[in-house]
Amino acid sequence: MRTSITTDIAFCQKLLKTGELVAIPTETVYGLAASIMDIGAIERIFEMKGRPMFNPLIVHIHSLEQLSLLARDIPENALRLARAFWPGSLTLILPKTAEVSDTITANKPTVGIRMPNHPKTLALLKGLPFPIAAPSANPSTRVSPTSAEHVFSYFGTKLPAILDGGPCEVGLESTIVGFKGETPVIYRKGGITVEAIEAIVGKVQLVTKEDKAPVAPGMLAKHYAPKTKLIISSSVAETVEEYTGFKVGVISFCSNYERVEALRILSQEGNLAIAAKNLFSALHELDQMELDFIVAEKFPEEGLGRSINDRLERAAY
Ligand code: TXA
Ligand code: MG
Repeated sequence: MRTSITTDIAFCQKLLKTGELVAIPTETVYGLAASIMDIGAIERIFEMKGRPMFNPLIVHIHSLEQLSLLARDIPENALRLARAFWPGSLTLILPKTAEVSDTITANKPTVGIRMPNHPKTLALLKGLPFPIAAPSANPSTRVSPTSAEHVFSYFGTKLPAILDGGPCEVGLESTIVGFKGETPVIYRKGGITVEAIEAIVGKVQLVTKEDKAPVAPGMLAKHYAPKTKLIISSSVAETVEEYTGFKVGVISFCSNYERVEALRILSQEGNLAIAAKNLFSALHELDQMELDFIVAEKFPEEGLGRSINDRLERAAY
């Protein structure tokens, strides 16, 4: 199959209506989308990603009316968060209605729902009679794509179309929030910070990697991984010294490092949002350079730095 990288929204809508898969841009990462009404197409998402059937997909919507079709018994705090952050990088885990098939939710009674903040994908959704399910558009466990070219490099010959929305502005996947009663529980740190969520709903619980049975099955420890071995370091210069004689690439927040094969400084000005936006591209690039090791600097454990450290830890697994 020949993939077209396109900006033609109507063409992508037509494909989705006929049960085809289309890669879509969002502000977080690109998604691999299908109609939630077409179970055959949903199954092909799992197949194409090599994703285990027990790992549920999230559903993308453009309005709160669509939310009420898909979810029931919505906690007041969920609505507060939706009003504060949608469209945006927040996925809510809510009890599902019969509209959502068990294939999408991997037989869970809950569904993950998000209103993405990307003009092209919002326009796409507004012209469709159904919401779309979309995981990140990468093979299972690999680094998520933040550009149409990244998607093409993964699935180039297998997809009829990639809707090109340019580079993703946020660059990290959405923050996933579920509820125990009214208490919000963060299952995945992401584009909306823990601090911003707590400013709306007060103290939240955090699901840690140590938790034995994660509610988000995609929180498998190994995830977001490049093929090259990745090491996280709080003193990069020393680590680089230790690996003298090897081809080492470095990902740093804002510092310069000498005597390395490749260096990606994520934000010269030390801005975490800019660093987040550049992280996955840097991983994709360094992973293609036949390096022996990638050394990534540990980020400050605050705001988006916490989400970046989470991704680095999974990439280093
Ligand atoms: O930013 C994002 O969330 C991107 C863009 C494309 O929207 N999507 C994304 O999807 O990252 P995915 O499938 O790669 O990650 C979604 C995560 C998975 O770890 C999955 O296990 C979890 O959400 N999830 C989905 N439905 C769930 C549910 N009902 N309960 C718990 N976790 C769920
Ligand atoms: Mg993913």
